Formats: sequence, C-alpha cells, structure tokens
Amino acid sequence: MSQRSDIITIDGPSGSGKSTLSRLLAAELGYTYLDTGAMYRAVGLQVKNRRIDLKDDRSLNELLTGLELELLPGGGDSVVILNGRDVSRAIRSAEMGMMASRVSGKSLVRERLTALQRQMAARGRVVAEGRDTGTVVFPTARCKFFLEAAAEERARRRTEQLRQQGMSADYDDILAQIKKRDADDSGRKLAPLQPAADALLIDCTKMDIPAVLNLMLSRVSAAAG
Ligand code: DC
Repeated sequence: MSQRSDIITIDGPSGSGKSTLSRLLAAELGYTYLDTGAMYRAVGLQVKNRRIDLKDDRSLNELLTGLELELLPGGGDSVVILNGRDVSRAIRSAEMGMMASRVSGKSLVRERLTALQRQMAARGRVVAEGRDTGTVVFPTARCKFFLEAAAEERARRRTEQLRQQGMSADYDDILAQIKKRDADDSGRKLAPLQPAADALLIDCTKMDIPAVLNLMLSRVSAAAG
C-alpha cells in the first residue's frame, strides 16, 4: 500500500501536548486539524444526555446512525457541532473525558467514528490527533508521531488548562483520572493506545512546545524530500 503524505498522525495519552502541537503543526503546514478525541467526547455527551446504557447495543446503534458531527476550525479547540448544536464547551469537562474513554471501548462507536474520520480526511490534507490515528485509522500515513510525558506533568498541564478556561480543577483528581484513563485506553482490546511501529516517539516531559514543533517540522520535511 502506498504511503500518504497528505495525512500526519499524532497519538499519545491525554495531556501529552497532542492538541496544542496538532493545531500548531496544522497551521504551519496549511493542513486541517482533525481532533478525533472531540468526536469520542461528543458521542459520550450524547450517551449521557440520552441516558443510554452502554450494554444496550440497539440504542447505541440508533444514536450512531443518527449522529451528525461536524468539526469546524476555531481559534483554539475545534468548534464541535453535534446534531446542529454547538457542544464545544460541554465536551471539554473532565467528566466528558471519562465518558469518551468509556464509549471508546465499544466497537460500534469505533467503527462509526473511524469511518467518519476517513471521510473527513478525504476532503483535504489533515493532521489527525488521537489514540489510534497512526495504528488503525490512517495506517498508511507517511508521518506519524507518538507523544509521551510523565503522568504528573500531564496532570499539572491539564489542571492549568482547565483553570484557564474558567473551569474548576483539582490536581489530585486530575492525576487520578489521567492514570485511570491511561490504563483504560492502553489496556482495551480494541485499538489500544500504542505507538505505531513507524511512529517517531517524542518524550515531551521536559521539552517545550516550540522544540517539539521544530522536531516535527523537520521530520515532515525530511519525509517529503
Ligand atoms: O484526546 P481526548 O482527551 O479528547 O480523548 C478523550 C478520550 O477519547 C480518550 O480517553 C480515549 C478516547 N479516544 C480514543 O479512544 N481514540 C481516539 N482516536 C481519540 C480519543
């Protein structure tokens, strides 16, 4: 299968800096930023609002069949439109992060969102961010990155980010959630969080954003050359 230079994937655990770097890299290269985590969060929100039991495949299937999801570029995070309603803010809570992680273990959800992500990427060049974009969704992407950072540093960054967005955030709670999410995302059978064999692993614990971005840009241009 030939490699695709129109898709760049960035995977890694929550709080590793994926979103910031994906946005910056996409802006730098003129690609569209595809935030796959936002899509799992939107499904999580819908499951919660409709009080769907995750063991009830029929109701879940109905929800997924009627799912209309749009990601629009925003100043920061993508603007997420779920069945005509702007849910950009509602999906960003810590609770929705946990809900997203729960729904992401369901094969019905993964199949539907993977198909949607491929459709979105068919419209133009993308930087796709998530947990399985390099392994499952776009295995033939030419440039793949996997970001890592110590859980404590990720919890510190996430706490700060939520507070800046005006949400209440407790470091210890967030650290516990991050550890649980890491274990759930890495331990699930379906599309677990793991680096693709051909991904460049970057440990961001001590690197700042510009340093990681420069590393990514040099890798992208080396791959193009
Ligand atoms: O990146 P995020 O925090 O917005 O992701 C929320 C959850 O969604 C994450 O814990 C696991 C799930 N997810 C996934 O399983 N696959 C993806 N490609 C993206 C996110």
